[in-house]
Formats: sequence, C-alpha cells, structure tokens
Amino acid sequence: MKGEDYHHGFELLEQAKAFSRAPVSGYQVGAVLITVQGQIFAGANLEFPGQPPSSAVHAEQAAVAAALLRGQRDWRELLVSAPPCGHCRQFLREFDSGSLRVRVLGKDGTESASTLGELLPQAFGGEAFLSDTKGGTERPNPRLPNTDWAAAAREALARSHAPYSGNPAAVVLAGDGHLVAGASLESAAFNPSLGPMACALSQWRMGGREFGEIEHTWLVQSAPRQVNWEQQSRALLASISAAPLTAV
Ligand code: THU
Ligand code: ZN
Repeated sequence: MKGEDYHHGFELLEQAKAFSRAPVSGYQVGAVLITVQGQIFAGANLEFPGQPPSSAVHAEQAAVAAALLRGQRDWRELLVSAPPCGHCRQFLREFDSGSLRVRVLGKDGTESASTLGELLPQAFGGEAFLSDTKGGTERPNPRLPNTDWAAAAREALARSHAPYSGNPAAVVLAGDGHLVAGASLESAAFNPSLGPMACALSQWRMGGREFGEIEHTWLVQSAPRQVNWEQQSRALLASISAAPLTAV
C-alpha cells in the first residue's frame, strides 16, 4: 500500500500545500494534477480575509487553473490531501467528462482512488441549458496596447472558459519584474466558477511570491454585460494588496 508511488505523491502534496494562504480557516489543502504526458501542476487553497467564504480558491481549482492556463487539458490523475468537496467535483466536471482518476493520499499512509464519475454520479452539466448558438467561439477581444502585460492578458483570455456568460476575462498581476495571469473559468452550475482575479492571485501564490510584491494589476474583459468581474476583482485585490487595478 505505502509504495514509492504513495511517498512521491505525498511529498508533492506537501510541497503544494506550503503555498496555501488560509487566514480564515487555518486549514491548508494541497492538490496536484498530472497530465497524460506527465506534466505536474500544483494547487493550494487561498482565502481572502474579510471576504465571503465563497470567494476562496480551492486547491483543486488552483491546480486545474494552472494546467488550463498553459493549455494542458489531457489529465491522467489528480492527487489530493483530502477528498474533494462537492464544489470541486462540480468544477472538475466542467473540464473532464468523468474519467479523471482522483487519488486521496492520507497522512497515515492510507490511499483511495476513484474516478470523477464515481465521485459525482448523475452530474449536472451545461448541456442542460446551453444552446448551440451561445458559447460559440467568437471572442470580441478588447483593444489592447502592444505591451508585455497585454500579451499576457491576450493569452489568458484565449484560455478563459466562459461559454455561459460569453465574457472571457483575464487579470494580469505585475511586480518585481514578473507577470502572472489568471482567467475566468466558468462552471455550468455557476457558483463553483473561478473569477479572473481569484485565479491570478492564486497563480501568483503558487509561484511562491508574496502578495505585497504586486505593484500593478489589469482586468481585461470581452463582454461585461451579462457578467462583470470588476467589483469582485477590486474587493479581492484590496483585501490582500494595496496595488492599483486598471480595468480595460
Ligand atoms: N478546501 C479545498 O481547498 N478543497 C476542498 O475540496 C475542500 C476545502 C479549502 C477551502 C477553504 O480554504 C478550506 O479548505 C476550508 O474549507
Ligand atoms: Zn473544494
């Protein structure tokens, strides 16, 4: 049971967990997504002080976002330090039809494996209400300057998953010579959706940086009529950083 494979996975989860920021619960969660080609994407949970608990980024979402932002969509398995919650199961279902293997590696050497389909039978999906015309490929990109942050925003916009609102959105964080982007990743069940600012801040943390290092931020949205990320982005950013936000 406690093979080399378990120890390696457990070690990866411990490393991922170290990037968690959980000022509300004090509970650190780690997740590691492994692609078919063997690439590894780590995630940890992130909570925003003073904000509603529903604004938290779950470790599983952080790992999924890291993979999607790099265009990696063929996943072999997800390692987690605790069984994924219902919200995460629904979020995962957005990007995997149910075959993803989920392995829970407990502290005491216990291990359990199941497929996402087993963890979330009779799943709700966007096909329940998404028409063929909605959520098409047309993406009206806002006019952006010829700069590095804009290039990062364009790339993240292209990776944003927004078939329900039709509003692909991205946030770029800049600081200490680094640029980190996040994208909105919508869920068919709406509430488990990950917003662009929460996504970007979580990726910033997963890069091992502190929030105090952020100097400037940009929010870029395509069509903010149905869904507008600006208010939430400003609130989440202000809860952990004094950096300004430019909305484009
Ligand atoms: N959490 C996760 O990261 N994944 C789960 O599936 C369970 C819950 C986080 C969210 C919050 O930051 C803390 O654990 C307490 O729920
Ligand atoms: Zn969860």
